[in-house]
Amino acid sequence: MKVAVLGYGTVGSGVVEVLESHCEVIKKRTGGDVLEVSRILDLRDFPGDSHAAIFTKNFNDILKDDEIKVVAETMGGVNPAYEFTEKLLAAGKSVVTSNKELVAQKGLQLLNTAKEHNTNYLFEASVGGGIPIIRPMAQCLAGNNIEGIAGILNGTTNFILTKMIEENMSFSDALALAQKNGYAEKDPTADIEGHDACRKVCILASLAFGKHVYPSQVQTQGIKDITLQDVAYAASANGVIKLLGQIKYIDENSIAAFVSPAVVFAGSQLASVRDVFNAILVRGDAVGDVCFYGRGAGKLPTASAVVADMVDCAKHIDRRKIFGWGAGDSDYVVDYKQVLPMQFYVRAKMSQSEVLALFSDVKFLSRKGQPSDETAFITDKMTENELMQKLSGKVVYSTIKVAEY
Ligand code: HSE
Repeated sequence: MKVAVLGYGTVGSGVVEVLESHCEVIKKRTGGDVLEVSRILDLRDFPGDSHAAIFTKNFNDILKDDEIKVVAETMGGVNPAYEFTEKLLAAGKSVVTSNKELVAQKGLQLLNTAKEHNTNYLFEASVGGGIPIIRPMAQCLAGNNIEGIAGILNGTTNFILTKMIEENMSFSDALALAQKNGYAEKDPTADIEGHDACRKVCILASLAFGKHVYPSQVQTQGIKDITLQDVAYAASANGVIKLLGQIKYIDENSIAAFVSPAVVFAGSQLASVRDVFNAILVRGDAVGDVCFYGRGAGKLPTASAVVADMVDCAKHIDRRKIFGWGAGDSDYVVDYKQVLPMQFYVRAKMSQSEVLALFSDVKFLSRKGQPSDETAFITDKMTENELMQKLSGKVVYSTIKVAEY
């Protein structure tokens, strides 16, 4: 079977590599079909690359080729990936993608187009890189009401935080290293400010609860304000700071979904997730907690998931998989700051007695070199709005949520 790849960057070139290097095993898994890459679309030139004969800059070479049945879109970004995917699905081709931005923004429309044309749009690689999570959520956990999800969903920020925690490395040195290793997005702002994790939260929330959640509905805070002081205070309580995407079921008509740094204490399955690794903890009412762990970024791990989707499409070439979600609405994702009680880590210019006058049940933290007028503590449970009210008028250096997982 002929297949094509849109975008020959880190992931796209990995997809071509895996399809070629694993052709024998893929043939067994499709039931006899080899997935032969017959076209690669990219506007750039790749002098010396062995695929010179199949590169094209013209999308129509793929769209109009009836022999190409499955296309991997690994371009990233919404445009022109959206237009290309719509056209390919409308032409009856199956499309698979690693493009979380596109799925988070336009997943509903693309799933509807796939349905209309009886074809498949799959995106296992869009969350957690190589970690199987989309299919397990859609299939293996289908007998559960999902109560909540918490995930370390961005490899770059987890890598940076790990370097800060374990090597006292500066934020900018750790970021430069992540970029050098090929983990970061083209524009690393998407990683650092949490937008990449936010897109993955949208996809997981849409899948878990059946209504599309858009990035604009997910309050998102990144890691650029995390300091080595916060890291040290958290460590004194056996905690680590992670960038978490969190989703909570509230009722039939509402969920909470947000991305933020969070203190995770030792003992949590998420606490030991280091380096570029991702983990997604799903809490189901029948199964309890299940945790999916693995490489969440990088060329071959992400390609592994893209290729798995291509194999699935090849196996279901005449059948549409029942998969996807419906429309959401603007009130569906609530303001978690108003409704979700949780504990917080606070670092402020306050004395312990000032803290005790405001909070009933606190745990004080310490660090080497702690200034005499600085206090760090963990609060009891309250909403974020209540916390902000209590701290109003105080000099607060940082507040970080404490994870409940
Ligand atoms: N930049 C992303 C990350 C790539 O670091 O996780 C995978 O989405």
